[in-house]
Amino acid sequence: MPCRLVSAFLVPALLILLLAPGCKTDPWKGWKTYGGDKASLHYSSLKQIDSSNVNRLTLAWTYHTGDADTQNHSQIQCNPIITGGTLYGTSPRMKLFAVDAETGKPKWVFNPLDSMDANTQSFFIMNNCRGVTWWSDGHRDQRIFYTAGSDLYAINAGTGRPVTTFGKQGHIDLHDGLGRDVKDLFVTSTTPGIIYRDLIIVGTRVDEGPDAAPGHIRAFDVRSGKEVWIFHTIPQPGETGYGSWEDPQAWKHIGGANNWCGMSLDEKRGIVYVPTGSASPDFYGGTRKGKDLFADCLLALDAATGKLIWYFQEIHHDLWDRDLPATPVLLTVEHQGKRTDAVAQTTKTGFVFIFDRVTGKPLFPIRETPVPDQSELAGEEVQPTQPIPSLPKPFVRQILLDSDLNNLVAGASRRRITQELDSFHTGNVFNPPSREGTVIFPGYDGGGEWGSPGADPRTGMLYVNGSQMPWVLTMVDLKGQRLQKENWLDAGKRLYAQNCMTCHGPDRKGSGNFPSLIQAGQRYNEDQFLLLVRSGRRMMPGFRQLPAEDLHALASFILDLKKEQGRVFIAPPRKPDPYLDLPYGSTGYHKFLTPEGYPAVKPPWGTLTAINLNTGAQSWQVPLGAYPEFLKMGIVTGTENYGGPAVTASGLVFIAAARDGKLRAFSARTGRLLWQYPLPAPGFATPSIYQAGGREFVVIACGGGKLGTASSDSYLAFALP
Ligand code: HEC
Repeated sequence: MPCRLVSAFLVPALLILLLAPGCKTDPWKGWKTYGGDKASLHYSSLKQIDSSNVNRLTLAWTYHTGDADTQNHSQIQCNPIITGGTLYGTSPRMKLFAVDAETGKPKWVFNPLDSMDANTQSFFIMNNCRGVTWWSDGHRDQRIFYTAGSDLYAINAGTGRPVTTFGKQGHIDLHDGLGRDVKDLFVTSTTPGIIYRDLIIVGTRVDEGPDAAPGHIRAFDVRSGKEVWIFHTIPQPGETGYGSWEDPQAWKHIGGANNWCGMSLDEKRGIVYVPTGSASPDFYGGTRKGKDLFADCLLALDAATGKLIWYFQEIHHDLWDRDLPATPVLLTVEHQGKRTDAVAQTTKTGFVFIFDRVTGKPLFPIRETPVPDQSELAGEEVQPTQPIPSLPKPFVRQILLDSDLNNLVAGASRRRITQELDSFHTGNVFNPPSREGTVIFPGYDGGGEWGSPGADPRTGMLYVNGSQMPWVLTMVDLKGQRLQKENWLDAGKRLYAQNCMTCHGPDRKGSGNFPSLIQAGQRYNEDQFLLLVRSGRRMMPGFRQLPAEDLHALASFILDLKKEQGRVFIAPPRKPDPYLDLPYGSTGYHKFLTPEGYPAVKPPWGTLTAINLNTGAQSWQVPLGAYPEFLKMGIVTGTENYGGPAVTASGLVFIAAARDGKLRAFSARTGRLLWQYPLPAPGFATPSIYQAGGREFVVIACGGGKLGTASSDSYLAFALP
C-alpha cells in the first residue's frame, strides 16, 4: 500500500520534473522568429485549434496599417513575429509596427521616412519586407531589426524608437562593407536576418542585370552594427570556389549569388544554412563562364566566423533565374533506421534536396545528369550536367508537351497554344535560353517560392506549396556597342532594351508581374520619372549607376518627350565594358497563357503537397486555390500562389497564398480541406501561430497586390470564440 501511495505521488512529480524544463524550452510555443523558429519549420506546438473545432474559428481582430498604395499594387509579404504578448510586423510602405497580440491594439509605429531629409527620402527604395528579427540581451535591451530601403535598422522593441548606438543613429547602410564600390548599385534586403548569439547574419537583394552588387553574406554585431564577418559568395583569389569561374577577374565584376530568401540556424552546432540565388546577369552567362560557385548553392557556414563548412550547388551556371527561393528546413528524420539531423531545401524547379546537415551528404542519391548543352547564343557555355535527386519526386510538373496543354479551353484557343508551343523549345527543364523562346516550367516564381515550406518535427513531414505556371524566356540581340552619336529617341530605345526590357517587355507593355510603361507619360513628369528610376520601388531595382544623359534619353523615349527626341545624343565618355555591354537580353517575364488569360497548361495551377522526408515519398497533393468560374463547374484548378504554410501539433496546415484570397486549413494527415475564410485581399504571406491570453491565434497579412489583385493594408487574427 505505502509503496503504491509513494509511487502515486512520485511518478507524477517525476514526470513534472522531467517535462517541465522541456515545456519551458519548447522551441515551437511562440512565433519569435521569421518562419516560426530558427529551423524554419513554420511549426507551432499549440493544439487548442484542431480538426474538430477549426470550422468555428472567428475573426478576433483586424489591424489596418493605413498605408496601402492601391495605384501601385502595394503588398504585405510579412510573416509577423510575436513575443512577450506583442506582434511586430511591417506595412506596405515599410513602416514597422507593434500591436497587442491579443487585441490588435496599436502600441507604436516607426516610419523610416520620418527622420530623412527630402533628398534621402527621394532615394528611398520601397522594398518588399517579409519580416523582422527580434533580439534581446536577456534583460531590458530588446531590439527589432529590419531593412527599409538599403538600411538595416535597430529599433527599441518597447518604444519603437531607433537604438542610436547602433550604426549611424540606429541604422547601417547595406551598401557599406561589401569590399567593392557599390554605392550606386541596387542593394536592399527582403527577408530578415537571423540571430546567432550577438550577431545578426544577413543577406541582400541585388540587381539581376549586368551591373549588380555581389551577394556576400555578412554578420553584424547586434549592439554596435559593426561588421564581424563576411563570406564571399563570389570567391576571391585563393578562396574555395574561385576556380569555378573561368574568368580570373570575374569576382571584381560579377554580382548576385545573393541570399534573398532567408536562412536557417542550427543553434546548438552553430551552423547557419544559407541558400543563394543565381549570379548576374540572369539569362546570359557569357561573362560568367564556369559553374559560378557559390551561386545557387546551399551553404553551411560556421555562424560565429562565416567559415565554409560544406556546400551543395543546385544549378551549375544558372541561365534561368533558378535562385534557391526558400528557407532550408532543419529537422530530424528517420533515415535507414537511424535518427539523422537533416536539412531539406525546396527549389523553384520542384526538386527537394535533403542532406545530413552536419556532413552535407545527400540522404537520397543525387545524380549529375546530362542536359542539353548547346546554346545558340555566341559566347555562352552551357554546363553539360545538372544535379537531380532520386527522391523525393518533384512536387510540381516540370515538362510541358502538347498533351499537357490546357484542356479547359477548346477550339481556336487550344489551337493557338498548340501552335505557340510548337514554336518554343520545350521538353527539358534545362533547355538553354533561345531566340525562339524556351519554355520555363515550372516558372521563374517556382515551383517553390519565398513562402517556403512548413514541416512537422515529430513526423518528418514537409508541406510545400507550389505554382505550376509555364513561362517563356526569349532572348534578342542587343546593340551592345554604345554609338558615339545617335538621336535621343534611338539612344532611349537602346538604353531601354539594355536596362528595362527584361521586365517591362520589348513593346513596353509589361510582362509577368511588371507593369506596362505605355501610359507612363501621363503619370510621371520627367523629374518624378528620374527619381523613380534612380531609386527603384519594390521589385524594381534602382538605376543610380546610369549617367544622367542616359537617364534623360530614357525619359525622352518612355515619357514620349517629343521636343527632345530629335536632339543629338552624345554618349557620355566610358570605355566599352564587356561585363556591361551584353550582346543579348531577355524580352521579359512572359507567362505562357491561353487567349483568355489562363495558364496554358492543364490544371492544377497551384498545389499543396505533403512529402514524407523519412522515406522521400509523397503522401498527398491537393490543388491550392480556385477560379470561381471553374469552381462552378466543380473543377478546383488551384492558382499561382505566394506565401507559405504554417503547421500545428494538432494536425492542421494553415495557408492563404492563393490568388482567390482565402485563408484555408487542411488536414495535415490527409490534405482534406477543413475550413476556409475569405480575406479582404489575398494573403501573399505566411501565417503565424501563437498564444496570447490563453487563446491560440492564427494571424495573416492581407496585402494583395500580386497577380492582378487589389491591395489592402490589413492583418487579420483568428481564434476560437
Ligand atoms: C527587375 C525588373 C525591372 C527592371 C529591370 C525595370 N523595372 Fe521598372 N518597374 C518594375 C516594377 C516591378 C515596377 C512596379 C513598381 C511598384 O511595385 O511600384 C516598375 C515600375 C516602373 C515605372 C512606374 C510605372 C507606373 O505606372 O507607375 C516606371 C516609369 C519604370 N518602372 C521604368 C523603368 C525603367 C526606365 C527601367 C530601365 C532603366 C526599368 N523600369 C527597369 C520592374 C522593373
